[in-house]
Amino acid sequence: MCGIVGYVGEQDGLEVVLGGLRRLEYRGYDSAGVAILGPDGSLTVERKAGKLANLEKELAERAFPGTLAIGHTRWATHGAPTDRNAHPQVDCSGAVAVVHNGTIENFGALVRGLEERGHERSSDTDTEVVAHLVEERYTGDLAAAVRSVCKDLDGSFVLVIAHRDQPDLVVAARRNLPLVVGLGDGENFLGSDVTAFIAHTREARAVDQDQVVELRRTGVVVTDLDGNVVEGESYHVDWDTSAAEKGGHEFFMLKEIEEQPAAVRETLGGRLTEQGVLHLDELSMSDEDIRDIEQVVIIACGSSYHSGLVGKYAIERWCRLPVQVEMASEFRYRDPVVGRRTLVIAISQSGETADTLEALRHARAQKAWVLAVTNTLGSTVSRESDAAFYTRSGPEVAVASTKAVIAQLAAMYVVGLYLAQVRGTRDADEVRAHMHDLEEIPSLVEDVLSRMEPVRALARELASEERVLFLGRHVGYPMALEGALKLKELAYISAEGFPAGEIKHGPIALVEEGTPVVVIAPRHALQAKLVNNVQEVRARGARTIVIATDGDESVTPYADTVIRIPDTKSLLAPLLTIVPLQVLAAEVARARGLDVDQPRNLAKSVTVE
Ligand code: AGP
Repeated sequence: MCGIVGYVGEQDGLEVVLGGLRRLEYRGYDSAGVAILGPDGSLTVERKAGKLANLEKELAERAFPGTLAIGHTRWATHGAPTDRNAHPQVDCSGAVAVVHNGTIENFGALVRGLEERGHERSSDTDTEVVAHLVEERYTGDLAAAVRSVCKDLDGSFVLVIAHRDQPDLVVAARRNLPLVVGLGDGENFLGSDVTAFIAHTREARAVDQDQVVELRRTGVVVTDLDGNVVEGESYHVDWDTSAAEKGGHEFFMLKEIEEQPAAVRETLGGRLTEQGVLHLDELSMSDEDIRDIEQVVIIACGSSYHSGLVGKYAIERWCRLPVQVEMASEFRYRDPVVGRRTLVIAISQSGETADTLEALRHARAQKAWVLAVTNTLGSTVSRESDAAFYTRSGPEVAVASTKAVIAQLAAMYVVGLYLAQVRGTRDADEVRAHMHDLEEIPSLVEDVLSRMEPVRALARELASEERVLFLGRHVGYPMALEGALKLKELAYISAEGFPAGEIKHGPIALVEEGTPVVVIAPRHALQAKLVNNVQEVRARGARTIVIATDGDESVTPYADTVIRIPDTKSLLAPLLTIVPLQVLAAEVARARGLDVDQPRNLAKSVTVE
C-alpha cells in the first residue's frame, strides 16, 4: 500500500511531509514525490523513482518555502515505477496536485472522456484522471469539486489534493483504504496511518467510508459526499512508532492478516467492464492463442505453490484444460513436456524466487507462453514473462506470506474465469455470477477476521504440541498443506498436511492420544467422506479441530473444537478457510515467544536455488 502525508500549518511543509514519508518507508514503495504550495502561490511538484533518498537529493539543491505540502510513497500498480508515474500527479495547468492510494476501477472510461474533452495525459497512472476531473469541476470550492469527482469514481481510494489557489486548504477523501487525520494546534495533518504524524501530534481522528476532509490550519471539517458535515470523535494515539507501523499489532504479520479483505478487493477490482464482461488486458494473449492452449502448467514454491494447487481445481473445472502444478525447484530437472500450446503460470509474491525464475526460463526456452502472477511490479519474474497479472495486496513485510497468498488465490480464480470466458466453456452469465461470488469475499473475510478469538485461545492450548496434522479434501487439501506450512515456518512444529482420503494409507499411524488434527471441512459435496476420515482419526485418540461452515452440523459431532466460517461457493472456500489457519499459526508462534515476523532460517525472498 502507498504512503500518504498531508500538512497545513506554520512549520516548513516540506520538512514535515518528508519526515512523515520517512516513517512510512516500512510500507515498501518504488517511487516518491511531494507538492509544496509556496508563499508566492506557486505549486511545486517534485517526484523521483526509487527510494526517498533519490527525491531528497533532488530537493537538496533548492529551497522550497511553504507551510502547506502533500507527499507520497508509491507501490506501483498502474504504470511502471518511473518519475512520470510517481505522485503527485497534476492536471493540465499544474494547479491541482493529487496523491492517491488504491485503484480507480473505471479509470479507462474516465480517461476516454477526458481525452475527448481535450485533456492530455502525462502519465500511465489511474491517479492522474482525478487531477484532471478536479481541474474541470473546480470553481473556487476545492472540497465541493473533490466531492463531485468522488461520486464518479469506482474502486478504492485515498486521495489527498492541493490546489494552487488554496493556500490554507488540503482536501482528502477515502473509500475502503485507511486515512487518518492528525489534530495539532494551528496545524493539522493527514496520513495513511498515524505513523505519518505522531512525531507532531498524538491526537487523531479516523475518516470513514466516502468522507471528505477539509484540512486547514485553524481546524478540520469532515463531510459526506453530499457536503453534510459529519461529527467525529478524536482519540489519543499511545502507540510508539514501531507499534504504529504495525497498526497497533505486535507483529507485521498480524496487521497483514487484517489487510486481506483489501488485498482481495484490490486484486479483483476493475476486472469486470460496465457490460459485465471480464477483462484481463495484462494477459496480452490473443483469444486465438488462448483457445489454442492444450495444457496449463503452474510453477511456484511454498505458499505460492499452494495457491497454484487451488488454481488447478478452478481452471480444470471451468476451462476443461489439464493443469499440472509443479514445485518450481523440480520442474526443469524432469525434462517436462511443454511447448507453444502450453500456458505456464509462474506464481511468486516477490517475483525474485530463483527456483521459480529458473523454471520459467526453462519453460520459455521450450516456447511455452508464460504468465506471471506476482505482487511486485517490475520484478524479475514479471519482466521475464510474456505477461504479468499483479496481485495488489501491497508490500508484505512479514516473512510468512498471508495477504499476498489470498490475493494469489483471487488471481487464480480470475485467470480461470477469463480463460473459460475466452474458450467458451463458461458463458457470460456464469462468468458474471462467479465474479459476483468473488466480490462478496472481502466482506466474508472481514466476518471471519471478527471471529478469531476462539482460534487465539486454541493456539495458546496448542503451543506445547510438537506434532499437528492437517486434513482436507478437494480445494481443502491445498489449504491443509498451507496450514501445515504456516505452523512449520512460524512455530517450528512438525506439521503435515494430507488429502483426508490419504490418511488411512499410512499417515494415520502418526495419530496417538491427543494428537491435534485440523480438518478443513467447509460445506462440500464430499462432506460424508470427510466425516469418515474425522471419525477414523478420532477413534484413535486425535483431538479434532474442524473448520466448518455456519449451520453445517455434519462434521461437528466428531469435533473437539469447531471454528465457524460463513458460507460461500465450495470452490471459493480457500479464500475463507486460509484465514483461521494463518491466525492459528501466528498465535501459536506468539504463544511460544517466537519472532512471528522473522522466523529462524527463513528469508522473505529466496533468491538462491
Ligand atoms: C510463505 O509463507 C513462505 N514464506 C514461502 O513458502 C514463500 O511462499 C515461497 O518462498 C515463495 O515465495 P514467492 O511467492 O515470493 O516466490
